[in-house]
Amino acid sequence: MVEPGKSKFQIDLRRHLREHEVDDNLVHLICEIAEASKYIINSIRTGDLGVAGTSNLYGEQQLALDVLADRILRKRLDHSRVVANMMSEEADEIIPISPDCEGKYSVAFDPLDGSSLVDVNLAVGTIVSIFSGCDLLQSGRNQVAAMYILYGPRTTLVYSTGNGVHEFSMNHLMEFNLVRENIQIGKKGSLYSPGGQRNLYTPGTEAFVQQLEERGVKLRYSGGFVPDINQVLLKGQGIFFYPHLKGKPNGKLRLLFELSPMAFLVEQAGGAASTGRGPILDVEPEHIHDRSPVFIGSKDDVALAEKFIRKLDIEKKKVAS
Ligand code: AHG
Ligand code: MN
Ligand code: MN
Repeated sequence: MVEPGKSKFQIDLRRHLREHEVDDNLVHLICEIAEASKYIINSIRTGDLGVAGTSNLYGEQQLALDVLADRILRKRLDHSRVVANMMSEEADEIIPISPDCEGKYSVAFDPLDGSSLVDVNLAVGTIVSIFSGCDLLQSGRNQVAAMYILYGPRTTLVYSTGNGVHEFSMNHLMEFNLVRENIQIGKKGSLYSPGGQRNLYTPGTEAFVQQLEERGVKLRYSGGFVPDINQVLLKGQGIFFYPHLKGKPNGKLRLLFELSPMAFLVEQAGGAASTGRGPILDVEPEHIHDRSPVFIGSKDDVALAEKFIRKLDIEKKKVAS
């Protein structure tokens, strides 16, 4: 409900969460993450673009911004008093905060996704996955919330606690105010966002892309997972994929803090998110750093990708072996 004379656009994040009867500790947690984004924005706008001289578990060179964004988020979550365990893309292991799980949440996050794009001034983002209690190594289906903050021409925040997907934009006072509620993705799209090297695509993915191109679907790929997904969500159609590649059967993107949160949001918006064989949210992770191929966005396009992969990559292999 909106007070007379007040436009719905002045509903800030905390009020929106409260009006959706989100648990107080979860409201506090989501608002703390939103607060942390203000310091991350500052580090992006002014921070050192160089390398940190360290690398993460994937052997990827950590940029100073990765490490800075990671530190900002860890500190916020550590002091929030509602976090039991946390896990960052930039950490090797789970970071325990409190042994008491009651009323607390466990958080997996990618503090700065696409950080290497900052020095060419392209949009980047923070991705967060939230489970209740102490356990992080569980399927994405059990998340209680997921969100991302997109640092682009505007700074926007998108969240879901399982009751629709909602977008907020940061105003001149650095407050996040409601812009869109209950975002929906249509069944068929007119854009596709293809990750990975095309020459390493398997026959199934290659046939899928050719079918999209014959349909006149437009290629839109920034190289940043958060803006690329945000485009599918807010255009209300399209598909992003970072597929299994020849020599890389699990693709590149990480299940816990990239794919599960985005799959939660996209499914909440009526879309689909698949490994190419089945729902991302049903994957039981074996390790906190598990990777998976991903096809995510308009339902019919995801189903079409699964059909080509089943026919040309899975069944073909069975026949060949
Ligand atoms: P991160 O910067 O957190 O390591 O993630 C980057 C990811 C994601 O943003 C994007 O979809 C993908 O890397 C692009 O990979 P390629 O450079 O191989 O296209
Ligand atoms: Mn990432
Ligand atoms: Mn990252």
